Amino acid sequence: MKIAVPKECRRGEARVAVSPEVVKKLIKFGFTVAVEKGAGIGTSFTDAAYKEAGAQIAPGAAATYRGADMVFKVAAPESGELATLKKGTILVAHLNALADIKGMQALAKTGVTAFAMEMMPRISRAQSMDILSSQSNLAGYKAVLDAASEFGRVLPMMMTAAGTVPPARVFIMGVGVAGLQAIATAKRLGAIVTATDVRLSTKEQVESLGGKFLEVDPEMEKDAQTESGYAREMPPEYFEKQKQVVAEHLKKQDIVITTALIPGRPAPILLTEGMVATMPAGSVIVDLAVEAGGNCSLTKLNQVTTTKNGVKIIGHGNVASRMAEDASVLYAKNLLNFITPHVDPDSKSFAFDWEDETISGTLVTKDGRVVHPRLVELVQPAKKHKSKIPAAKKANG
Ligand code: NAI
Repeated sequence: MKIAVPKECRRGEARVAVSPEVVKKLIKFGFTVAVEKGAGIGTSFTDAAYKEAGAQIAPGAAATYRGADMVFKVAAPESGELATLKKGTILVAHLNALADIKGMQALAKTGVTAFAMEMMPRISRAQSMDILSSQSNLAGYKAVLDAASEFGRVLPMMMTAAGTVPPARVFIMGVGVAGLQAIATAKRLGAIVTATDVRLSTKEQVESLGGKFLEVDPEMEKDAQTESGYAREMPPEYFEKQKQVVAEHLKKQDIVITTALIPGRPAPILLTEGMVATMPAGSVIVDLAVEAGGNCSLTKLNQVTTTKNGVKIIGHGNVASRMAEDASVLYAKNLLNFITPHVDPDSKSFAFDWEDETISGTLVTKDGRVVHPRLVELVQPAKKHKSKIPAAKKANG
Protein backbone atom coordinates (compact mmCIF):
# COMPACT_ATOMS: atom_id res chain seq x y z
CA MET A 1 0.00 0.00 0.00
CA LYS A 2 1.62 3.23 -1.14
CA ILE A 3 0.65 6.58 0.35
CA ALA A 4 1.72 9.55 -1.76
CA VAL A 5 2.27 13.04 -0.40
CA PRO A 6 2.84 15.51 -3.23
CA LYS A 7 4.22 19.00 -2.82
CA GLU A 8 1.25 21.38 -2.76
CA CYS A 9 1.06 23.33 -6.00
CA ARG A 10 -1.67 25.86 -5.17
CA ARG A 11 -0.17 29.34 -5.16
CA GLY A 12 0.69 30.55 -1.68
CA GLU A 13 0.14 27.15 -0.04
CA ALA A 14 2.98 26.50 2.41
CA ARG A 15 1.46 23.55 4.25
CA VAL A 16 2.20 19.88 3.67
CA ALA A 17 -0.19 16.99 4.34
CA VAL A 18 2.18 14.89 6.49
CA SER A 19 4.73 15.61 9.19
CA PRO A 20 7.71 13.32 9.79
CA GLU A 21 5.97 12.15 12.98
CA VAL A 22 2.91 11.02 10.99
CA VAL A 23 5.15 9.36 8.37
CA LYS A 24 6.58 7.18 11.17
CA LYS A 25 3.07 6.11 12.20
CA LEU A 26 2.11 5.26 8.61
CA ILE A 27 5.26 3.20 8.18
CA LYS A 28 4.38 1.32 11.40
CA PHE A 29 1.08 0.32 9.76
CA GLY A 30 3.18 -1.37 7.09
CA PHE A 31 2.59 1.23 4.36
CA THR A 32 5.12 2.71 1.99
CA VAL A 33 5.16 6.52 2.07
CA ALA A 34 6.41 8.61 -0.86
CA VAL A 35 6.93 12.29 -0.14
CA GLU A 36 7.71 14.59 -3.07
CA LYS A 37 11.10 16.29 -2.88
CA GLY A 38 10.74 19.68 -1.21
CA ALA A 39 7.15 19.00 -0.04
CA GLY A 40 7.96 20.42 3.38
CA ILE A 41 9.69 23.54 2.07
CA GLY A 42 7.15 25.88 3.67
CA THR A 43 7.95 24.34 7.06
CA SER A 44 11.12 23.12 8.74
CA PHE A 45 10.43 19.55 7.53
CA THR A 46 13.37 18.75 5.29
CA ASP A 47 13.61 15.85 2.86
CA ALA A 48 16.19 14.40 5.24
CA ALA A 49 13.72 14.51 8.14
CA TYR A 50 11.09 12.70 6.06
CA LYS A 51 13.69 10.16 4.95
CA GLU A 52 14.79 9.56 8.51
CA ALA A 53 11.14 8.97 9.42
CA GLY A 54 11.06 6.21 6.79
CA ALA A 55 9.62 7.95 3.73
CA GLN A 56 10.94 7.58 0.20
CA ILE A 57 11.71 10.94 -1.36
CA ALA A 58 10.21 11.05 -4.87
CA PRO A 59 12.02 13.38 -7.31
CA GLY A 60 8.86 14.97 -8.74
CA ALA A 61 5.06 14.88 -8.83
CA ALA A 62 4.83 12.09 -11.41
CA ALA A 63 7.08 9.80 -9.36
CA THR A 64 5.16 10.63 -6.19
CA TYR A 65 1.78 9.78 -7.67
CA ARG A 66 2.99 6.71 -9.62
CA GLY A 67 1.35 3.57 -8.24
CA ALA A 68 -0.16 5.41 -5.26
CA ASP A 69 -3.08 3.69 -3.53
CA MET A 70 -3.79 6.68 -1.32
CA VAL A 71 -2.94 10.38 -1.67
CA PHE A 72 -2.74 12.79 1.25
CA LYS A 73 -3.10 16.41 0.19
CA VAL A 74 -3.87 19.77 1.72
CA ALA A 75 -5.70 21.43 -1.21
CA ALA A 76 -7.80 19.79 -3.93
CA PRO A 77 -5.73 18.52 -6.87
CA GLU A 78 -5.26 21.03 -9.69
CA SER A 79 -6.25 19.98 -13.22
CA GLY A 80 -2.70 18.85 -14.07
CA GLU A 81 -2.66 16.57 -11.04
CA LEU A 82 -6.03 15.00 -11.87
CA ALA A 83 -4.51 13.30 -14.91
CA THR A 84 -1.94 11.55 -12.71
CA LEU A 85 -4.52 9.99 -10.38
CA LYS A 86 -5.25 6.38 -11.23
CA LYS A 87 -8.73 4.88 -10.96
CA GLY A 88 -9.50 3.61 -7.47
CA THR A 89 -6.91 5.79 -5.71
CA ILE A 90 -8.12 7.07 -2.35
CA LEU A 91 -7.74 10.84 -2.01
CA VAL A 92 -7.91 12.55 1.38
CA ALA A 93 -7.81 16.37 1.28
CA HIS A 94 -9.57 19.67 1.94
CA LEU A 95 -11.56 19.59 -1.29
CA ASN A 96 -13.77 22.59 -0.67
CA ALA A 97 -16.45 20.35 -2.17
CA LEU A 98 -19.62 22.34 -1.45
CA ALA A 99 -18.16 25.38 -3.18
CA ASP A 100 -16.73 23.47 -6.14
CA ILE A 101 -19.30 21.11 -7.62
CA LYS A 102 -17.64 21.15 -11.03
CA GLY A 103 -14.32 20.22 -9.46
CA MET A 104 -16.00 17.29 -7.71
CA GLN A 105 -17.54 16.13 -11.00
CA ALA A 106 -14.11 16.26 -12.63
CA LEU A 107 -12.68 14.31 -9.70
CA ALA A 108 -15.42 11.68 -10.02
CA LYS A 109 -14.53 11.18 -13.69
CA THR A 110 -11.02 10.07 -12.71
CA GLY A 111 -12.54 7.18 -10.73
CA VAL A 112 -10.93 8.37 -7.51
CA THR A 113 -12.48 7.59 -4.12
CA ALA A 114 -12.30 11.04 -2.57
CA PHE A 115 -12.84 12.16 1.01
CA ALA A 116 -13.53 15.86 1.60
CA MET A 117 -12.16 16.35 5.08
CA GLU A 118 -13.92 19.68 5.55
CA MET A 119 -17.24 17.80 5.56
CA MET A 120 -16.36 15.84 8.70
CA PRO A 121 -19.51 15.53 10.85
CA ARG A 122 -19.43 17.54 14.09
CA ILE A 123 -19.63 14.58 16.47
CA SER A 124 -17.39 14.25 19.50
CA ARG A 125 -15.66 11.12 18.13
CA ALA A 126 -14.60 13.12 15.07
CA GLN A 127 -13.09 16.09 16.89
CA SER A 128 -9.57 14.75 16.42
CA MET A 129 -10.21 14.45 12.65
CA ASP A 130 -11.68 17.91 12.19
CA ILE A 131 -9.44 19.90 9.86
CA LEU A 132 -11.68 22.98 9.95
CA SER A 133 -11.29 23.06 13.68
CA SER A 134 -7.51 22.58 13.80
CA GLN A 135 -6.85 25.13 11.07
CA SER A 136 -9.42 27.72 12.26
CA ASN A 137 -7.96 27.61 15.73
CA LEU A 138 -4.59 28.72 14.36
CA ALA A 139 -6.23 31.29 12.08
CA GLY A 140 -8.03 32.86 15.06
CA TYR A 141 -4.72 33.22 16.89
CA LYS A 142 -2.90 34.61 13.87
CA ALA A 143 -5.72 37.10 13.17
CA VAL A 144 -5.05 38.80 16.50
CA LEU A 145 -1.31 38.94 15.84
CA ASP A 146 -1.91 40.31 12.33
CA ALA A 147 -4.19 42.98 13.77
CA ALA A 148 -1.70 43.82 16.52
CA SER A 149 1.11 44.25 14.00
CA GLU A 150 -0.93 46.68 11.86
CA PHE A 151 -2.34 48.53 14.88
CA GLY A 152 -0.31 51.58 15.79
CA ARG A 153 -0.91 51.12 19.50
CA VAL A 154 -0.48 48.42 22.13
CA LEU A 155 -3.14 45.95 23.28
CA PRO A 156 -2.63 45.87 27.08
CA MET A 157 -2.98 48.79 29.43
CA MET A 158 0.51 50.13 30.15
CA MET A 159 1.26 52.34 33.13
CA THR A 160 4.58 54.02 32.48
CA ALA A 161 6.46 56.97 33.94
CA ALA A 162 5.55 58.91 30.81
CA GLY A 163 1.84 58.23 31.18
CA THR A 164 -0.83 55.55 31.03
CA VAL A 165 -1.75 53.85 27.75
CA PRO A 166 -5.34 52.53 27.75
CA PRO A 167 -6.03 48.92 26.71
CA ALA A 168 -7.25 48.29 23.17
CA ARG A 169 -10.85 47.27 22.55
CA VAL A 170 -11.19 44.14 20.43
CA PHE A 171 -14.51 43.00 18.99
CA ILE A 172 -14.91 39.46 17.60
CA MET A 173 -17.80 38.75 15.23
CA GLY A 174 -18.55 35.03 14.93
CA VAL A 175 -17.60 32.85 17.89
CA GLY A 176 -16.83 29.48 16.33
CA VAL A 177 -13.43 27.85 16.66
CA ALA A 178 -11.51 30.80 15.17
CA GLY A 179 -13.49 33.37 17.12
CA LEU A 180 -12.95 31.61 20.45
CA GLN A 181 -9.21 31.41 19.87
CA ALA A 182 -9.18 35.08 18.83
CA ILE A 183 -10.94 35.99 22.09
CA ALA A 184 -8.47 33.95 24.15
CA THR A 185 -5.47 35.43 22.32
CA ALA A 186 -6.70 39.04 22.57
CA LYS A 187 -7.39 38.52 26.29
CA ARG A 188 -3.91 37.08 26.81
CA LEU A 189 -2.53 40.21 25.18
CA GLY A 190 -4.48 42.34 27.63
CA ALA A 191 -7.24 43.77 25.42
CA ILE A 192 -10.84 44.45 26.45
CA VAL A 193 -12.78 41.89 24.43
CA THR A 194 -16.39 41.78 23.29
CA ALA A 195 -17.93 39.28 20.89
CA THR A 196 -21.16 38.41 19.11
CA ASP A 197 -22.64 35.40 17.31
CA VAL A 198 -26.03 34.26 16.04
CA ARG A 199 -25.72 31.07 18.07
CA LEU A 200 -26.83 31.93 21.59
CA SER A 201 -24.88 28.98 23.02
CA THR A 202 -21.70 30.97 22.42
CA LYS A 203 -22.62 33.59 25.06
CA GLU A 204 -21.43 31.36 27.90
CA GLN A 205 -18.26 30.46 26.00
CA VAL A 206 -17.41 34.13 25.44
CA GLU A 207 -17.97 34.90 29.11
CA SER A 208 -15.90 31.92 30.25
CA LEU A 209 -12.94 33.38 28.34
CA GLY A 210 -13.38 36.75 30.04
CA GLY A 211 -15.12 38.47 27.13
CA LYS A 212 -18.43 40.31 27.09
CA PHE A 213 -21.21 39.08 24.79
CA LEU A 214 -23.03 41.55 22.58
CA GLU A 215 -26.61 40.32 22.16
CA VAL A 216 -28.55 41.12 18.99
CA ASP A 217 -31.93 39.37 19.27
CA PRO A 218 -32.13 36.34 21.62
CA GLU A 219 -35.58 35.41 20.27
CA MET A 220 -34.40 35.06 16.64
CA GLU A 221 -31.15 33.47 17.79
CA LYS A 222 -33.04 30.56 19.41
CA ASP A 223 -33.11 28.63 16.11
CA ALA A 224 -29.82 29.89 14.71
CA GLN A 225 -27.92 26.63 15.14
CA THR A 226 -28.29 23.60 12.84
CA GLU A 227 -28.22 20.05 14.19
CA SER A 228 -24.67 19.76 12.92
CA GLY A 229 -23.57 22.69 15.06
CA TYR A 230 -23.24 25.30 12.31
CA ALA A 231 -25.06 28.62 11.97
CA ARG A 232 -28.15 28.90 9.78
CA GLU A 233 -28.49 31.72 7.30
CA MET A 234 -30.41 34.39 9.24
CA PRO A 235 -33.46 36.31 7.89
CA PRO A 236 -33.04 39.91 6.59
CA GLU A 237 -34.78 41.30 9.73
CA TYR A 238 -32.00 39.83 11.85
CA PHE A 239 -29.30 41.49 9.78
CA GLU A 240 -31.08 44.84 10.10
CA LYS A 241 -31.17 44.51 13.87
CA GLN A 242 -27.59 43.24 13.98
CA LYS A 243 -26.44 46.26 11.95
CA GLN A 244 -28.05 48.67 14.40
CA VAL A 245 -26.60 46.99 17.50
CA VAL A 246 -23.14 46.54 15.95
CA ALA A 247 -23.00 50.03 14.40
CA GLU A 248 -23.13 51.69 17.83
CA HIS A 249 -20.59 49.30 19.30
CA LEU A 250 -18.14 49.70 16.38
CA LYS A 251 -17.62 53.40 16.99
CA LYS A 252 -15.67 52.50 20.14
CA GLN A 253 -13.64 49.53 18.84
CA ASP A 254 -9.94 49.50 17.93
CA ILE A 255 -9.74 46.04 16.37
CA VAL A 256 -12.55 44.01 14.79
CA ILE A 257 -12.01 40.38 13.80
CA THR A 258 -14.75 38.80 11.71
CA THR A 259 -15.03 35.02 11.35
CA ALA A 260 -18.70 34.43 10.43
CA LEU A 261 -19.32 31.60 7.99
CA ILE A 262 -22.31 29.56 6.75
CA PRO A 263 -21.18 26.24 5.19
CA GLY A 264 -21.64 26.19 1.41
CA ARG A 265 -22.97 29.75 1.31
CA PRO A 266 -21.35 33.15 0.86
CA ALA A 267 -20.21 34.67 4.15
CA PRO A 268 -22.76 37.11 5.62
CA ILE A 269 -21.89 40.80 5.28
CA LEU A 270 -21.62 42.11 8.84
CA LEU A 271 -19.67 45.32 8.18
CA THR A 272 -20.90 47.66 5.47
CA GLU A 273 -18.99 50.58 3.97
CA GLY A 274 -21.17 52.95 6.04
CA MET A 275 -20.33 51.12 9.26
CA VAL A 276 -16.60 51.15 8.55
CA ALA A 277 -16.85 54.89 7.88
CA THR A 278 -17.88 55.42 11.53
CA MET A 279 -14.87 53.55 12.96
CA PRO A 280 -12.04 55.55 14.52
CA ALA A 281 -8.94 56.31 12.44
CA GLY A 282 -6.17 53.82 13.19
CA SER A 283 -8.55 50.96 13.89
CA VAL A 284 -8.01 47.60 12.21
CA ILE A 285 -10.38 45.00 10.73
CA VAL A 286 -9.25 41.42 10.08
CA ASP A 287 -11.69 39.60 7.80
CA LEU A 288 -11.08 35.89 8.22
CA ALA A 289 -14.10 35.11 6.01
CA VAL A 290 -12.53 36.80 2.98
CA GLU A 291 -12.25 33.60 0.94
CA ALA A 292 -15.99 32.98 1.28
CA GLY A 293 -16.74 36.50 0.02
CA GLY A 294 -15.86 38.37 3.23
CA ASN A 295 -17.79 39.66 6.25
CA CYS A 296 -16.84 43.23 5.37
CA SER A 297 -17.93 44.62 2.02
CA LEU A 298 -14.60 46.45 1.60
CA THR A 299 -12.16 43.56 2.17
CA LYS A 300 -9.80 42.71 -0.68
CA LEU A 301 -8.45 39.16 -0.83
CA ASN A 302 -4.76 38.94 0.11
CA GLN A 303 -4.44 42.68 0.58
CA VAL A 304 -4.16 45.13 3.44
CA THR A 305 -6.03 48.29 2.46
CA THR A 306 -6.71 51.58 4.24
CA THR A 307 -10.02 53.42 3.97
CA LYS A 308 -10.35 57.20 3.57
CA ASN A 309 -11.10 57.50 7.29
CA GLY A 310 -7.91 55.59 8.17
CA VAL A 311 -9.25 52.11 8.96
CA LYS A 312 -6.95 49.26 7.93
CA ILE A 313 -8.65 46.18 6.50
CA ILE A 314 -6.65 42.94 6.45
CA GLY A 315 -7.81 40.33 3.93
CA HIS A 316 -5.18 37.60 4.11
CA GLY A 317 -6.44 34.37 2.58
CA ASN A 318 -5.41 30.91 3.74
CA VAL A 319 -4.32 32.20 7.14
CA ALA A 320 -3.45 28.73 8.44
CA SER A 321 -0.76 28.53 5.77
CA ARG A 322 0.85 31.59 7.35
CA MET A 323 1.72 29.30 10.28
CA ALA A 324 2.48 26.39 8.00
CA GLU A 325 4.41 24.24 10.43
CA ASP A 326 1.89 23.95 13.25
CA ALA A 327 -0.92 23.91 10.71
CA SER A 328 0.73 20.97 8.90
CA VAL A 329 1.42 19.07 12.12
CA LEU A 330 -2.23 19.32 13.19
CA TYR A 331 -3.61 18.70 9.69
CA ALA A 332 -1.46 15.58 9.32
CA LYS A 333 -2.70 14.27 12.68
CA ASN A 334 -6.30 14.90 11.61
CA LEU A 335 -5.71 12.76 8.50
CA LEU A 336 -3.97 10.04 10.47
CA ASN A 337 -6.80 9.93 13.04
CA PHE A 338 -9.29 9.69 10.18
CA ILE A 339 -7.73 6.66 8.49
CA THR A 340 -6.49 4.79 11.58
CA PRO A 341 -9.78 3.04 12.53
CA HIS A 342 -9.98 1.64 8.98
CA VAL A 343 -6.51 0.14 8.74
CA ASP A 344 -6.51 -3.65 8.56
CA PRO A 345 -3.28 -4.68 10.32
CA ASP A 346 -3.29 -8.19 8.81
CA SER A 347 -3.50 -7.20 5.17
CA LYS A 348 -1.67 -3.89 5.83
CA SER A 349 -4.33 -2.13 3.80
CA PHE A 350 -7.75 -0.53 4.33
CA ALA A 351 -11.06 -2.09 5.27
CA PHE A 352 -13.38 0.91 5.23
CA ASP A 353 -16.57 0.75 7.20
CA TRP A 354 -18.74 2.63 4.68
CA GLU A 355 -21.52 2.99 7.25
CA ASP A 356 -19.26 4.88 9.68
CA GLU A 357 -20.44 8.50 9.89
CA THR A 358 -16.92 9.85 9.49
CA ILE A 359 -16.64 7.92 6.20
CA SER A 360 -20.14 8.46 4.78
CA GLY A 361 -20.07 12.11 5.90
CA THR A 362 -16.88 12.90 4.00
CA LEU A 363 -17.04 10.53 1.00
CA VAL A 364 -17.70 12.71 -2.05
CA THR A 365 -16.76 10.60 -5.08
CA LYS A 366 -16.64 6.83 -5.66
CA ASP A 367 -16.83 4.49 -8.66
CA GLY A 368 -16.90 7.39 -11.11
CA ARG A 369 -19.76 9.27 -9.44
CA VAL A 370 -20.35 12.14 -7.06
CA VAL A 371 -21.95 10.28 -4.13
CA HIS A 372 -22.34 12.66 -1.20
CA PRO A 373 -26.09 13.39 -0.75
CA ARG A 374 -25.51 17.14 -0.25
CA LEU A 375 -23.52 17.34 -3.46
CA VAL A 376 -25.91 15.08 -5.39
CA GLU A 377 -28.70 17.45 -4.34
CA LEU A 378 -26.75 20.37 -5.77
CA VAL A 379 -25.77 18.59 -8.99
CA GLN A 380 -29.00 16.85 -9.92
CA PRO A 381 -32.22 18.81 -9.77
CA ALA A 382 -30.67 22.08 -10.78
CA LYS A 383 -27.63 21.59 -12.93
CA LYS A 384 -27.86 25.36 -13.30
CA HIS A 385 -27.27 25.72 -9.56
CA LYS A 386 -23.84 27.16 -9.02
CA SER A 387 -22.04 27.89 -5.80
CA LYS A 388 -22.62 31.52 -4.93
CA ILE A 389 -19.16 31.81 -3.45
CA PRO A 390 -17.07 33.90 -5.85
CA ALA A 391 -14.52 31.65 -7.57
CA ALA A 392 -11.57 33.85 -6.61
CA LYS A 393 -12.62 33.86 -3.00
CA LYS A 394 -13.30 30.16 -2.41
CA ALA A 395 -12.28 28.86 1.00
CA ASN A 396 -8.83 27.40 1.18
CA GLY A 397 -7.66 24.51 3.29
P1 NAI B 1 -17.99 28.44 11.26
O1 NAI B 1 -16.57 28.60 10.85
O2 NAI B 1 -18.92 27.77 10.30
O3 NAI B 1 -18.59 29.89 11.60
C1 NAI B 1 -17.93 30.74 12.50
C2 NAI B 1 -18.94 31.38 13.41
O4 NAI B 1 -19.69 32.37 12.72
C3 NAI B 1 -19.97 30.41 14.00
O5 NAI B 1 -19.90 30.46 15.41
C4 NAI B 1 -21.30 30.94 13.48
O6 NAI B 1 -22.36 30.75 14.40
C5 NAI B 1 -20.98 32.41 13.29
N1 NAI B 1 -21.92 33.15 12.40
C6 NAI B 1 -22.50 32.75 11.25
N2 NAI B 1 -23.29 33.73 10.77
C7 NAI B 1 -23.19 34.79 11.61
C8 NAI B 1 -23.76 36.09 11.65
N3 NAI B 1 -24.60 36.50 10.71
N4 NAI B 1 -23.43 36.90 12.68
C9 NAI B 1 -22.58 36.49 13.66
N5 NAI B 1 -22.02 35.28 13.67
C10 NAI B 1 -22.30 34.43 12.67
O7 NAI B 1 -18.09 27.69 12.66
P2 NAI B 1 -17.04 26.73 13.34
O8 NAI B 1 -15.91 27.48 13.89
O9 NAI B 1 -16.69 25.67 12.38
O10 NAI B 1 -17.82 26.11 14.59
C11 NAI B 1 -19.22 25.88 14.65
C12 NAI B 1 -19.53 25.02 15.88
O11 NAI B 1 -19.12 23.67 15.68
C13 NAI B 1 -18.81 25.49 17.15
O12 NAI B 1 -19.72 25.46 18.21
C14 NAI B 1 -17.76 24.46 17.40
O13 NAI B 1 -17.44 24.28 18.74
C15 NAI B 1 -18.43 23.21 16.85
N6 NAI B 1 -17.45 22.20 16.45
C16 NAI B 1 -17.68 20.91 16.81
C17 NAI B 1 -16.79 19.92 16.44
C18 NAI B 1 -17.06 18.50 16.81
O14 NAI B 1 -17.88 18.28 17.68
N7 NAI B 1 -16.44 17.54 16.18
C19 NAI B 1 -15.56 20.23 15.67
C20 NAI B 1 -15.43 21.62 15.34
C21 NAI B 1 -16.35 22.56 15.72
